[in-house]
Amino acid sequence: MKKEVPFILPKLLELEQLKKSHSDSPEALLFNNVSATLSRHDRVALLGTSGQGKSTLLRILSLLDIADEGDIRLEGVSSKQFEPIEWRKNVCYVAQQAVMLPGSVEDNLRTVHQLHQTPYDDQLVNKLLAQVGLDAIDLSKNAADLSGGEKQRVALIRSLLLRPKILLLDEITASLDQSNAKRVEDMLQEWHRQEGTSMIWVTHQLEQAGRISDYVWFMGNNTLLEKTSTDQFFEQPESELARRFLQQPVGRRELCLS
Ligand SMILES: Nc1ncnc2c1ncn2[C@@H]1O[C@H](COP(=O)(O)OP(=O)(O)OP(=O)(O)O)[C@@H](O)[C@H]1O
Ligand SMILES: [Mg+2]
Repeated sequence: MKKEVPFILPKLLELEQLKKSHSDSPEALLFNNVSATLSRHDRVALLGTSGQGKSTLLRILSLLDIADEGDIRLEGVSSKQFEPIEWRKNVCYVAQQAVMLPGSVEDNLRTVHQLHQTPYDDQLVNKLLAQVGLDAIDLSKNAADLSGGEKQRVALIRSLLLRPKILLLDEITASLDQSNAKRVEDMLQEWHRQEGTSMIWVTHQLEQAGRISDYVWFMGNNTLLEKTSTDQFFEQPESELARRFLQQPVGRRELCLS
């Protein structure tokens, strides 16, 4: 009798032994041995003090930067086999400093549909704008004239419209007031429930990390020092470094601890 071979779905994203040196002094290591897997629907908070390489790691994961060593695989396929533009439709980086394309706010939001040749979904755009507190925004306004916080939210919606499998969010609420930051959080939580998009979210706000993640990846000692459930990380971190990180008063947490 023929034996059934079980079909195992590859992990959504696999990071294998990533290494990166500092750009300004290449002999100094930024991080090494960074290995992790991200499954479908996972929400990860990427934490660590300033300068650990969190943004650099996210940029590497979206192929905006390259690792010195190691590999990244999306559903089992190495990033080396992808055109970067194809990869970025699946793995989308949302920067803290949003970059607007030339033209109006609406031009920016329509770009994705032009790229995919899909119809522009007015209703969805209006719903997302309202959810993040931008319902009164003039879509014909030159995008370059928006405030930093407005640009950030438009850039986020522009990325959502791509419907990537993975969103890489780099301190995307850092320049927003508390109530708008909460709106963005809530909107992303609803998006996650409905679309199942996996997220890796860098934040320095621990309360936010607790709300928006199922897992924590903690960067320290030039590597991904801890990969654990969010509850476990906050209740019982494994390393002394993470314990000290959690005990820092707000504001000092971003500073180097060593
Ligand atoms: N492309 C790059 N290649 C290598 N090193 C870089 C690169 N870009 C920045 N760096 C350096 O790497 C270090 C870490 O930068 P990065 O912005 O990734 O840290 P971070 O953990 O995101 O910090 P923060 O919490 O302040 O945003 C910095 O010293 C920076 O100068
Ligand atoms: Mg950063």
